[in-house]
Amino acid sequence: MNASTYVARTPGPDGHIHYPEEENAIWRTLITRQLGCVQQTACNEYLTGLERLDLPKDHIPQLADINRVLQPATGWQVARVPALISFDRFFELLAGRQFPVATFIRRREHLDYLQEPDIFHELFGHCAMLTHPAFARFTHTYGRLGEKATPKERGFLARLYWFTVEFGLLNTLRGRRIYGGGILSSPGETQYAFESGKPEFRPFNLLDVLRTPYRIDIMQPIYYVLDNLDQLFAIADMDIMAEVHKAQQLGLFAPAFTPKKTAI
Ligand SMILES: [Fe+2]
Repeated sequence: MNASTYVARTPGPDGHIHYPEEENAIWRTLITRQLGCVQQTACNEYLTGLERLDLPKDHIPQLADINRVLQPATGWQVARVPALISFDRFFELLAGRQFPVATFIRRREHLDYLQEPDIFHELFGHCAMLTHPAFARFTHTYGRLGEKATPKERGFLARLYWFTVEFGLLNTLRGRRIYGGGILSSPGETQYAFESGKPEFRPFNLLDVLRTPYRIDIMQPIYYVLDNLDQLFAIADMDIMAEVHKAQQLGLFAPAFTPKKTAI
């Protein structure tokens, strides 16, 4: 990945991170806008988690405030990290039930689209789901497997994370709803997933997911849909690495997108 143009903020002597007013204003813009659409599009488990988190509307919260909710709910915590971390560190944190959060927020010119995960994406997109036991356990299992995996195996595991934690959808009595943080923290992708009629929705199948290529810089052409969130418990109990090895043997599906052009 290219070096980030963002620098994560560090706490002052009082242990708090002091975000400038302009950054709190960006949080305000993002959360106001997203709260408007998640009520209609997110799954109930997410909305319940969001209520428990009780994120402030007018300023970026401190990570300790998030931990006061996460820790008793599922044993998870958020951990402050720089803008970009290595895969080794990423998996090590997840395996220790620590969800990495880079303490910077996107600039206004990146309000709608940002490749690096900022604090709004991590807290608003992921932390509500980390209060749910099935999601928490799945993410922990994923971290433990990733820690021991080879770089090639990690490439396959990354697809599992992508199509669940980031872009996962769920069948509910109210229709298809989102639990993936990559969609929930993006107004553009939320609208695209529900209203554009463009993406394809496939039932979740572990081997298929592991074989599905993705691009991080486009709206997703394919989403995988769970029948209920407890399915994540069942997936965590599967021999995921055996499926990874099967996927390695079978190879990837043909991409449903145009391959990225290499810059000259
Ligand atoms: Fe994410």
